Amino acid sequence: MIFVDYSLLWLDWRPKAGLPEYTKRILGTPATRQGKAALRELRNGLKVMRSEPDTSAEADGGPAIRLIEYPGNDEKVTLRRSGDGMELSGSGRGLLYGAFHLLRHLALGEEFPEWESSPAYPLRMLNHWDNADGSIERGYSGRSFFFSGGKPICTERTRDYARLLASCGLNGCCINNVNVHGSALKLLTGSYRRELKRIAACLGEYGVSLWISVSFSAPMELGGLSTADPLEPDVRKWWEDTCSQLFPSVPGLAGFLVKADSEGRPGPHTYGRSHAEGANMLADAVKPFGGKILWRCFVYNCTQDWRDTETDRAKAQYGAFAPLDGQFRDNVYLQIKNGPVDFQIREPVSPLLGRLEHTESLLEFQLAQEYTGQQKHVCYLLPMFREVLDLHLRQRPARDTVAESVSAVCAVSNTGDAFNWTGHDLAAANLFGFGAVSWDPAVDPAYIAREWSILTFGDEPEVTRSVTDILLRSRTVYEKYTVPLGIGWMCVPGSHYGPSPEGYEYDRWGTYHRATHLEIGVERGPEGTGFSEQYSPELAAIYGSVDTCPEELLLFFHRLPFSYVMNDGRSLLQRIYDDHFEGVEEAAAMAAAWDKLESRLEPAVFARVRERFQEQLRSAAEWRDVVNSWLYRLTLIPDEKGRKLYL
Ligand code: GCU
Repeated sequence: MIFVDYSLLWLDWRPKAGLPEYTKRILGTPATRQGKAALRELRNGLKVMRSEPDTSAEADGGPAIRLIEYPGNDEKVTLRRSGDGMELSGSGRGLLYGAFHLLRHLALGEEFPEWESSPAYPLRMLNHWDNADGSIERGYSGRSFFFSGGKPICTERTRDYARLLASCGLNGCCINNVNVHGSALKLLTGSYRRELKRIAACLGEYGVSLWISVSFSAPMELGGLSTADPLEPDVRKWWEDTCSQLFPSVPGLAGFLVKADSEGRPGPHTYGRSHAEGANMLADAVKPFGGKILWRCFVYNCTQDWRDTETDRAKAQYGAFAPLDGQFRDNVYLQIKNGPVDFQIREPVSPLLGRLEHTESLLEFQLAQEYTGQQKHVCYLLPMFREVLDLHLRQRPARDTVAESVSAVCAVSNTGDAFNWTGHDLAAANLFGFGAVSWDPAVDPAYIAREWSILTFGDEPEVTRSVTDILLRSRTVYEKYTVPLGIGWMCVPGSHYGPSPEGYEYDRWGTYHRATHLEIGVERGPEGTGFSEQYSPELAAIYGSVDTCPEELLLFFHRLPFSYVMNDGRSLLQRIYDDHFEGVEEAAAMAAAWDKLESRLEPAVFARVRERFQEQLRSAAEWRDVVNSWLYRLTLIPDEKGRKLYL
């Protein structure tokens, strides 16, 4: 039975028999902080795996791992056999990634292939939605480990985290919420320089750059100015002065993340200025320090009247940003959520992705399971990430897929101060998987699930098989018992946990299905809101017609009668009933598969996940009964198989 040390997650190396001879010795003395960290990681990891006091650094004692550090800061890694030994070369950062890669492969006991690799994107980051008071917006893993009592903090956990991020290939971290409140505003001022500097140094040792979210109206909130108009000279000067004090005193600070003119946040629109004018003003202020601006595109009218059937929230981001392509400075990245609405379990890819030809774009995923079970339900998101990245946008032949069209990737973090980091033990697979897919967008979700399971729970085949299988099934299962066919938003308003089919119907958020007893959904084809026309002509034709629209997205794009006949001959209504019944059964099967592992897992781990499964099953049954009964009450059409629906 394997005991999991949760301060380490997948870095909890364990004794391993039959390691190659070269793992006894490490040669080379890297000069950079990251190179030194790589050497330390290798030594510490191999000591544990070899169950020996230390590795040797003797020059002529047989096969060895030889570290060759190149100058520079690129992230390329080369690992190749050299005689009986192994040669690892790269910059300090390259050595770090190579060291973790080597350790992982040794721990997995796999035949080790030579590896020459560079990450697909120069920026692979996490966005924390941590507030200065220590709470986390949409956080399901305890409280923040970056903030406590209104201040940033740097602790042992910061370092553990930096190691975890580097070990799965991530290299950036924005530590505070995009909704900047309270004392988080003051991250820009001198108040927290010392703490920020310590965090930046701690992350930097592992090649992770520090970012902070800033408020667009900081010149008013902090500087006492009467405006935050980006074209106003005093405002520009305030930002320039602030940056010229901040950046030099926090080495490793890479730039700002900005949520502007979105869900009540201040922004350039208040002053009749465009997003480009707002972002460029900040870009100019950070430019002398090599800084970048990550400007979020999550912009829509959040005070819509539900009676307004013309406005379609799904169209908003493309509408706001596509016309501005080419107007942004080259150190501005537009940060675009994977779907056009908001991290639902099923959405089409945002049409803004791939549309920007002259502007850098950053794809945003959400690891925090806001709409996908809040880390109480297991929901492995890597298959969804791959679907997004693999989509052929048919917009630009040279950069056709989403993976090719974006310049960087980020995700809203799912971590907190919970001792297991992610609340649900199995949710750590999402963090690990995001790292893997942001290094190589073509990674196989099944391979990553298996790798993560072995590194976390040990290599007993039955455990690996069951955990991998649970992870791979989990997204489809979740989708089945919650929200059908891409329609989204049947969750409880505010908390976003649990079912409430009409919760958002008469509200201001622009997320309606407008169901009657006959039909359901918003028509977004050319005859409807025209959202489908925001895609390339080829995709527009596919999504715009009911006949060619992928079935899993039918209700995102089309308003359909409940009697609509699906590909397999079932009615739309029956398909929704069936999915909900099946989803609950499949969730029960996942829970039963976990139960079978009882004798093979550490009791605390087993019990903790079992408890989560119990909540998942309760909630899944609630979803099934609420959604199905609601539809039955609307339509008065019973389930063909006579299963229980509630009047
Ligand atoms: C969602 C989420 C908010 C968050 C917002 C964002 O709407 O519910 O909590 O602030 O996304 O991405 O900015």
